Amino acid sequence: MRTPRTYYELSNSQVSTPAPIVSFYWDIVKQYRPQLQRVIDLGAGDARFSHGGHFEEYVGVEIDPNAVQHIRPSSPKQIKSSPNTFEQIQLTSRSRIELGCAFRFKETGFSACIGNPPYVRHHDIESPWKEDTANYLAKELDFSFNMHGNLFLYFIALGLLKTSDDGLLAMVVPFEWVSRPSSKGLRNLINKHKWDVSIYRFQESIFDGVLTTACITIIDKNSNNGNWQYFDVSEDLQVSPRKGISGTDQEILQHSNRSEVWARRGISPGSQDIFTLTDGQRIHFGLTLDDVIPCVTTLRHVPKSLRMLTSKTFNKYFVDEGKLCWLIKSNEHPISDQLQAYLDSIPESDRQTYTCINQFPWYDYEKSAIPDLLIHSGFTSFGPKVLINSIGAQTVGSVFGIHTTRKNVLRSIQEYLLDIDFESQVVAQANSFKKIEVRQMNTILNNWVKKF
Ligand SMILES: C[S@@+](CC[C@H](N)C(=O)[O-])C[C@H]1O[C@@H](n2cnc3c(N)ncnc32)[C@H](O)[C@@H]1O
Repeated sequence: MRTPRTYYELSNSQVSTPAPIVSFYWDIVKQYRPQLQRVIDLGAGDARFSHGGHFEEYVGVEIDPNAVQHIRPSSPKQIKSSPNTFEQIQLTSRSRIELGCAFRFKETGFSACIGNPPYVRHHDIESPWKEDTANYLAKELDFSFNMHGNLFLYFIALGLLKTSDDGLLAMVVPFEWVSRPSSKGLRNLINKHKWDVSIYRFQESIFDGVLTTACITIIDKNSNNGNWQYFDVSEDLQVSPRKGISGTDQEILQHSNRSEVWARRGISPGSQDIFTLTDGQRIHFGLTLDDVIPCVTTLRHVPKSLRMLTSKTFNKYFVDEGKLCWLIKSNEHPISDQLQAYLDSIPESDRQTYTCINQFPWYDYEKSAIPDLLIHSGFTSFGPKVLINSIGAQTVGSVFGIHTTRKNVLRSIQEYLLDIDFESQVVAQANSFKKIEVRQMNTILNNWVKKF
């Protein structure tokens, strides 16, 4: 069966909730509503949330006929749901699936909106669907909708519209929405109505092969104290209270704009496979050291005690270790014959990335200043590694650069950063991996500027 047309890549959003999590989910929901009448499941998949729930009626809306193929009874009933046709599949006497897009489904007034909606990054949601849908939700709910948010936020907003005034929203979604700037509008809306929110954060990854830290989010429209409560859920599904968003007494790091010292994400030339090379690859393609500049795509393997990237340490930890260490100078002119030959040898199919397609020629990536300090945005304990960049390496991908106009302060910034307990101020991803965002790093750097 063909996959239906959507305004995003559907396959990216199709992760199923494991059965034990569904059962745990219903135990939690029961604590908020011992009995439910009509419930709606937006992005229902194979309707697995219709199992084990305490509701009188279940309506699952699912866009992909393939998702329900194996649960489809032999003679489905067709109905019209104006203005679009939804195929209706009756599963049991109290549950049915409506096949079509959740945003076109007309029924409202449900006592709960349940389930696990699709997650799609905002870059991958097409315009003008993104703008039209965001504007519709913002108007209907009267709040400011940020279009830099993930698709699941559109589904939370839709869930708030579909539920009655005393209804419950209970969804399995990424934990990040409780702190990200892109979901601030939604949090403000919830706070304006003083709806109570409970968050059950899974400490281990619950989806196969997906690193998202998930949570069960409960928004109770019938409870108007404006309380936000947090809980941790262990691997064996034991619930314990959690200290706020960060899980510590510390506040989560705020996001800030840049000041005279600022962080910048590593560059994205178009594809690391093409633009960054190991030393062996450089030699293999006949490129000289004039065709490349040093670069770092990771600091994961360097010792925590390392403080400076010098020629010696660069050779030891990157060149000799066979790491990606050279960035080709395909954005500088003239391009040498050997570099042009290398670029010409790249098959067209390998350069179909968004960035390459939007560059002319495809390898002319944006020029960026070389950072003064290098910092790995990911870390496991206390804080990230911070190195003084004495060889003029460019940062690529998840290695951030720190830039300053004051060159004699690098040691001071480095020491300041190495002293900060980042771990207690950011939200851990699954598997205890933590990540700091560029604008969170700017908050720290702004504090350094105020102090020195
Ligand atoms: C993360 S999966 C979860 C499926 C199921 N709820 C579960 O927990 O196993 C999200 C589902 O939403 C469906 N979906 C995506 N966009 C949709 C839309 N606009 N309307 C209805 N369903 C949609 C996908 O096909 C997918 O089955």
